[in-house]
Amino acid sequence: MPSPRKQMHLNLFLNNFGGHPAGPWLPETDRRRVTDITYWQNIARKAEAARLDAIFMAGAVGHVQQPKMNPLIGMDMLLMLAALAGVTSRIGLISTLSTTFNEPWQAARQFATLDHISQGRAGWNIVTSTSENEAQNFGLDRLPDHAARYDRAREFLEVTFQLWDSYDADALLRGKEQGWMVASDSVRAIDHRGPWFKVKGPAILPASPQHYPVLSQAGASEAGLDFAARWSELIYAGAISLPEGQAYAANIRERLLRIGRAPDAVKILPNLIPVIGRTEAEARAKEDYLNSHIHPETGLERIRELLKIDLSGLPDDAPIPAFPSLDQINGHRGHYQRVADYIHQNRPTVRQLIEWVAPSGRKIVRGTPAELADMMEEWVQAGACDGFNVNPSHFSGGFDDFTELLVPELQRRGSFRRDYAEGTLRARFGTTPPSASLPVLEAAQ
Ligand SMILES: Cc1cc2nc3c(=O)[nH]c(=O)nc-3n(C[C@H](O)[C@H](O)[C@H](O)COP(=O)(O)O)c2cc1C
Repeated sequence: MPSPRKQMHLNLFLNNFGGHPAGPWLPETDRRRVTDITYWQNIARKAEAARLDAIFMAGAVGHVQQPKMNPLIGMDMLLMLAALAGVTSRIGLISTLSTTFNEPWQAARQFATLDHISQGRAGWNIVTSTSENEAQNFGLDRLPDHAARYDRAREFLEVTFQLWDSYDADALLRGKEQGWMVASDSVRAIDHRGPWFKVKGPAILPASPQHYPVLSQAGASEAGLDFAARWSELIYAGAISLPEGQAYAANIRERLLRIGRAPDAVKILPNLIPVIGRTEAEARAKEDYLNSHIHPETGLERIRELLKIDLSGLPDDAPIPAFPSLDQINGHRGHYQRVADYIHQNRPTVRQLIEWVAPSGRKIVRGTPAELADMMEEWVQAGACDGFNVNPSHFSGGFDDFTELLVPELQRRGSFRRDYAEGTLRARFGTTPPSASLPVLEAAQ
């Protein structure tokens, strides 16, 4: 008998009205729905019907691009996920929250609350933030340095872990036995004093079903990769090619071993934007349609964001002017490096770079359900990942193709579950939460 196929994990990754750069711009994209919770509740129900592991909401606390280009779902992600928890019962709910622009006490409470509301389905995507506008919304003139952001993130996590451990789950029940509201020995101050935070504690609510939310992160820099290995259970890789994915996974597993965590304590989920057609011709037509709707400003804006240079007004055939080196970049260094490498290797003109950069850094793969399933299985079998963070090209067409064409193909092959097993989100992923007492890796920038 052939051995059963390794099953993959699949998240629905929501960062805006579609992962393809044209997704939010398509004529059929109904922009009014961005703040309509019934729209997202419907998507959540369909995602659960497809047996997806979790809905992961990305987001920021400011405009990452100039407002007129910004396609973000701007609603508060934790509040949205609480509303999605009410209409679902199995799917995981992972919210992004920045350690740079929040306080650990409040964050610990919010995630414990989401975990209680959802009965053990909460996850936290830990980010350190990358845009100046976010800093300017929180009393700062500029984004704190990359190293400082990760330093604060490490202490932020230490504090949230202490807070989650500070109030026993059975404190109220045992309190009744003792004649108190809360058992006297079951709630403990944490008295944390560090360079970034002074938090007395304890938490004010009992530990939640998972105790800690499932932690995810997407480190790309040295400091980010160390942080991901130290604190995450799900890692969102930006890898595009299979060798890149394998190298990324090996890099993470090596860091896990170095820090004393089991290599399988963590699941690696690269991003995937599938463009799916019932036939190869249909898939190609869909991709052509999407590409024809990429807004011309998209590439220019991305170059401004990543390279800090403005190419508008330059002739199409001009060479790329000088741009800052990596050590001068305080934002998204992984994406910066990808674009810088492309420029150094290909010497593109202004027009060529604008066209290349709009969809770049995204794993957009066109194909039939069978072709995409082959590719996804190959990545999992080759040790590049444990599944994918699927970012539909657009809503709802690209999302419907994913749940109605691709997921059934994977299920038919035995590569994806047909039903949920009992248990929490962490049990589904089979990850192990990091222990607060692990050593801290000395992170380079
Ligand atoms: C799949 C994925 C999702 C991400 N989601 C967010 C997000 O919601 N908010 C955010 O500020 N950054 C987000 N990021 C950026 C990362 O948190 C991180 O800053 C980036 O990968 C750069 O890594 P570095 O900080 O180690 O240089 C995301 C990255 C990836 C690959």
